[in-house]
Amino acid sequence: MKIGSVDLLSPFAIAPMAGMTDSAFRRLVKRHGGCGLVVTEMVSAEGLVRGIDRTLEYAEYTEEERPVSIQIFGGDPGKMAAAAQVVEGMGADIVDVNMGCPVPKIAKHNAGCSLMREPAHAARVIAAMAKAVKIPVTVKMRAGWNEGERNAPALAKMVEDAGAAAIAVHGRTAAQSYSGSADWALVAAIADDLAIPVFGSGDCVEPEQIVERLASGVQGVLVGRGVLRNPWILAQAADLVRGLPARRVTLEDRGRFLLDYIDLLLCERVRDAEDFRPHSHDRWVINKIRALGSWYTKGLDGGSHLRTAINSASSLAQLRELIGSFFLAAAPVG
Ligand SMILES: Cc1cc2nc3c(=O)[nH]c(=O)nc-3n(C[C@H](O)[C@H](O)[C@H](O)COP(=O)(O)O)c2cc1C
Repeated sequence: MKIGSVDLLSPFAIAPMAGMTDSAFRRLVKRHGGCGLVVTEMVSAEGLVRGIDRTLEYAEYTEEERPVSIQIFGGDPGKMAAAAQVVEGMGADIVDVNMGCPVPKIAKHNAGCSLMREPAHAARVIAAMAKAVKIPVTVKMRAGWNEGERNAPALAKMVEDAGAAAIAVHGRTAAQSYSGSADWALVAAIADDLAIPVFGSGDCVEPEQIVERLASGVQGVLVGRGVLRNPWILAQAADLVRGLPARRVTLEDRGRFLLDYIDLLLCERVRDAEDFRPHSHDRWVINKIRALGSWYTKGLDGGSHLRTAINSASSLAQLRELIGSFFLAAAPVG
């Protein structure tokens, strides 16, 4: 499949998740296969335009992650167009616009999901961006703002007309946040109505669900929390599409993933860690493992004990030991 001129080798992608889908995590997921596209954590258009180091850091990616989409948030057409040019200058393949974030801090600035409440304005944002850059501009939205404003079908058409090259829809309203379930019938109806590719997003936690959703009429599936629980899920879905059984993931594989993640994070952002973080770089890595741990341990035998232990580990040595004894008891750690 293609987004504009960008070829995707698989219709499955890692959904953008603030605080979670950093470059190290994306690389590890991508290495397993089955992942056609990665999207960065959302970054501020304002921060990009002003060249704020911290913002630029969130937008960093490595060559092995391509094709890469950088997701930006903001609400001013001129600033969003300028931010799209920064993204293009950074060499990204795609620039994506966040129209789904329900967090008040973002939504109150006329960004995130509140853009869905002003469809004509949202379309102007996309038109300004599409005019400013050559790379494809895409949009990620929700079903709408609330039950009374489920306007994703109309907005999707408007942003397509304004120049969007693809859209992704998480089938919940902002008011729902993560409660209830994602409305995939709505997403399939939008996919049916649009000429550009439509990705669906929401509630795929097993590889079989990803394949079923793809068959429901969307062109691609974005997987969020399912990847945090099981970073092999996209590779397993690709196995199923090929008619193979989904690959088995052992406890040892799961342990190695965490150890590799620690090692990659230790090499990240080292040069400026002192400038931005009051604590040491190790502390930042520990917090990252804790954040992932809250998802990664779900559904595992003894997972809640492991989660508590990860949350109370105070050094990387302790964390490595914990991971070793939980996942790799019979295998050498290193
Ligand atoms: C921790 C977390 C952070 C998220 N951050 C973003 C974000 O930065 N941008 C965005 O468009 N969606 C974000 N989302 C929404 C996901 O991309 C996705 O659409 C949603 O979680 C539903 O898919 P899932 O059920 O597969 O997780 C986030 C979701 C979670 C759980």
